[in-house]
Amino acid sequence: MKKTEEIIKKLSSEHNATDSELLHLINYDGNCDLLFDEANKTRQSVYGKDVYIRGLIEISNHCKNNCLYCGIRASNKNAVRYRLTKEQILDCCRAGYELGFRTFVMQGGEDGYYTDEVLCDIVFAIKKEYPDCAVTLSMGERSCESYQRLYDAGADRYLLRHETADNSHYKSLHPECMSLEERKNCLFALKKTGYQVGSGFMVGSPGQTSKTLLADLRFLQELKPDMIGIGPFIPHCDTEFAKEKAGGLEQTLKLIAILRLLFPYALIPATTALGTIAPDGRERAFRAGANVVMPNLSPENVRELYSLYNNKAHSGAEAAESLGILKEQAKNAGFEVVVARGDVKR
Ligand code: 5AD
Repeated sequence: MKKTEEIIKKLSSEHNATDSELLHLINYDGNCDLLFDEANKTRQSVYGKDVYIRGLIEISNHCKNNCLYCGIRASNKNAVRYRLTKEQILDCCRAGYELGFRTFVMQGGEDGYYTDEVLCDIVFAIKKEYPDCAVTLSMGERSCESYQRLYDAGADRYLLRHETADNSHYKSLHPECMSLEERKNCLFALKKTGYQVGSGFMVGSPGQTSKTLLADLRFLQELKPDMIGIGPFIPHCDTEFAKEKAGGLEQTLKLIAILRLLFPYALIPATTALGTIAPDGRERAFRAGANVVMPNLSPENVRELYSLYNNKAHSGAEAAESLGILKEQAKNAGFEVVVARGDVKR
């Protein structure tokens, strides 16, 4: 007990710890109140009580990849595929802007339809209509040239989770043609291009161990991302991992708090996956150090189809049009949803 307390205090003051200390926390399953309080204080010192919102537009569920955990994998014949047009995406932005969103996140599978030309045209149109807003892309692995062209078209940020920083674990979650090395190359290329970069991983993915989690933390220290998104793994019935266990709420909250202490400046979302496994997941994530939420701004008729995992939440506080619910929840937990781009504070 004493030992745990000492490690938390050290992590809180030095924003680092040894491998064995981090492993101790990763494996610790006792009361985490002190850890959450320290993480909350650290977030408070950089970002105050502000919670930033991002309007998430799921632009396509077509994907050429076959990640073993993901419901929109190419080989899932049960997935009903869709993609949004430029006009539909701009309509989402219009609705979002009215609601107070100043960041739009376009996320999709790796869909060949969105060539640089097509995507740059959309990014450019959004930035032209909303020069006061940030555009974030979450469109997977692309070439350095592609990242550069999208940046030049006006994209500000890019989300690409590394998923796991352990080579053999990465291999067990992805098809042969994908590699951790390539994923890392993309992340460093994005940084070099000038994007605010987000990475992250699932908590409790099949084969994850305390050792692979430690590797995740160390890799993030090397990458120094601006945003870090983590959420529990949740099985999808049409994947090879259909019968696997979901990641835990407590373990996810604990890792959010550890990440906050390691990366005081980071933008850390309370993810939809966390909100999916627990109705109070969001508020608890805020109290553990999270400071971002990404409500769903996609057209309502496609939300059901962007099914990365089963029962993905897309109503109530997860829905952009119900922002009032989220504001209320944040307020009750002692936080405040703000109208702002919400850039990283380095
Ligand atoms: N459970 C939880 N998260 C998932 N993702 C994909 N499939 C799942 C799943 N079954 C996450 C991945 C990806 C992000 C967009 O969604 O980490 O990077």
